[in-house]
Formats: sequence, C-alpha cells, structure tokens
Amino acid sequence: MRRKMIRGANFAKKVIPGSTLLKLLRARRVVRVFRESLVDAHRHARFGSPEDNEASFNSPLTECQVTKDYHRIEKGLALEDPRRPFGSSVAARISLALQAPEQSLSVSGGLYEYASTALEALDLWNEQGSVDDLVAPERSCHEVWGPLGSEPYSKAIEHMFLTRRSIRSFDASIPIDIDVLRSAVSLGRNAPSVCNRQSSEIWICTDSDLNAKILAAQNGNSGFGGSVPAVGIVVTDSRLFSGAGERNQRWIDGGLFAMSVVYAMHSKGFATCMLNWSMTNRESDYLRKICGIPQNYDVVTLVAIGHAPQRFRVARSPRRALNSVLKIMHSRG
Ligand SMILES: Cc1cc2nc3c(=O)[nH]c(=O)nc-3n(C[C@H](O)[C@H](O)[C@H](O)COP(=O)(O)O)c2cc1C
Repeated sequence: MRRKMIRGANFAKKVIPGSTLLKLLRARRVVRVFRESLVDAHRHARFGSPEDNEASFNSPLTECQVTKDYHRIEKGLALEDPRRPFGSSVAARISLALQAPEQSLSVSGGLYEYASTALEALDLWNEQGSVDDLVAPERSCHEVWGPLGSEPYSKAIEHMFLTRRSIRSFDASIPIDIDVLRSAVSLGRNAPSVCNRQSSEIWICTDSDLNAKILAAQNGNSGFGGSVPAVGIVVTDSRLFSGAGERNQRWIDGGLFAMSVVYAMHSKGFATCMLNWSMTNRESDYLRKICGIPQNYDVVTLVAIGHAPQRFRVARSPRRALNSVLKIMHSRG
C-alpha cells in the first residue's frame, strides 16, 4: 500500500508542475484534517454524555454526571473555608441517581458508594458544619514531603524523572511478570483526571501474533517492533465526557494517564517506549476491531513494554532550553 503511494507520488511529480503539486498536496492535507476532525466531533457527540442542564430534565443519569457531582462535593469540602450550605442542585441529582438500580449507574464499579457517601458528607456539612474525613481526608506536609529539610523523597522522585527514557531494546529472555505489571498500572491509576472522571484504560497484550498485527499498524517501531514483549494500548472511554467544552479532554486525560502508567512501570523496573497513534479514524477502527476494543473507546497511544538488556543505548532527545519552556508572566495591567 505504502509502496504504491510512493510510486503514485513519483509519477505525479513527473507530470504535474511543482507549484501546482504543492497546492494540491496542501489542499489534500486541509481536507483530510477537516474530515478527521469531523469524525472526532461526531464520535464525541455520539458517545459523550449529557451536560448538567440536560441532567436536570430527567435524562438518564450517567457515570459522567454522577462522578462530576460527587466530586463537586469532595472538592467543596476540601476547601479551606467551605461555603455553608452548598450543593443543592448537586444533591438533587445524586439523590435521583441513587434511586436507579446500582448496576445501571456504574461502568467501572464503586460509583454508587462514592455518590452516597459524598451525599451523606454534604448533609453532615450543611446541617452540622463538620467535614467528613472519608470524603475530604486531611494530609500533612510531613507525610507528603517528609520532615522539613529532608531530601530522600524529593531525591527519589527526581531520580525517577531523570532516569526514565524511551527504550527501544528489549531482553526477551526476561519474562514479563503480569503481577508486577498489574501493580504498576495500579500505581499509574493515581494520575489526575478532569473531575476525577478516570476515563482511561490500558489494554495490554503479550501474545506475539496479535502484537505483530498491532505493531504492523503503527508507524514508529521499525527496527525494534519485532522484539517488543508486550504492547499496551492506552484508550479513553468517550462516554465519560460531555459537551463542547470537553471535546478534547479525552486526549488530555488519556495522555496524563499514559505518562503516569509509564512512570509507574519505570519504577517497577520495566523498560517502555510510547508509540504514537497519530492515525486516522479508519486506522483506529481497524485497531479496535483486531483487539476487540469497543467503539466508544478512543485510542490515545501505544506503549512498548519489556525489560532492558544489561547495557543499551537511548536516543539523545535533547530538551529545549528552560527559558523557552518556562515563561514567567508579569502584571499586564
Ligand atoms: C505520545 C508519544 C508517542 C511516541 N511515539 C514514538 C514512536 O512511535 N516511536 C518511537 O521510537 N518513539 C516514540 N516516542 C518517544 C519519543 O521519541 C521520546 O519520548 C522523546 O524523544 C523523548 O525522549 P525520552 O522518552 O527518551 O525522554 C513517543 C513519545 C510519545 C510521548
């Protein structure tokens, strides 16, 4: 297919003047960008959830809505000086949701309990002015960053940032321990997500035949794809987002989740390399089909996972200068 396209391009170069060809290529690029963006928008509109204002009109309450609402209570109670009373419309929606059968409410489990405990905590606050420790737990600087002036925590975290690199060499003789992989993904779940929506998942495959098919559909693994022991596919569930404002949120949350899982895998001794899924929707359809991933999931990125050999090289990947990444802003008044 790719060879045919190259041959076609070479032929076009011979028969069409350069400036015309450039215009045609530009037009084709623009058309493709619009076409794919329309499909993205269609997917968001088709699978996305109703917004707050629709939810008040008795449309079925979704995990998206209930998560947003229980988390609004958690955030409200975690403020230094919570408003009192607050949350009447949130409470009304959660009460309604709790009347639905538990299994109809939750895609991922636990939602019913999170919603009901948040509602109880809201009542406790509004009626008695007490904050529930379960819903808004207290933390101390000491437990988060260690004793004042101590370095071990920050040094360990710094080490993690400085040593994670994309690794493209794998030692196939070291087996993948699924339990360790599981514990890495468990750690990675601590990624932040919009309103705690947690829409992202990683689907991991260690079957070499399926991995070969997956990697054949991806365009950044030549020279090492054949030695990748496990492939992760990071996806986001479009049903957990709603409205025009959240149209790009699935990619943001999916990227944060991917990064978090990759750091967690690094901490457990795995070598990883993210593999772009910079693909058209048709190619995503194909990937979903061969992997049995339902239509409502968007593909964010792939990740090659394995163990590194004793010695290996990494690409230099120089970083941009700090002053081109960090812009300190001053008053513009
Ligand atoms: C979303 C994403 C997709 C990537 N895709 C590829 C890829 O297809 N092939 C590859 O070899 N590296 C890929 N990389 C790795 C980047 O080249 C690498 O992260 C970058 O050069 C920085 O180097 P480092 O990861 O070693 O720090 C990808 C990275 C990200 C974040």
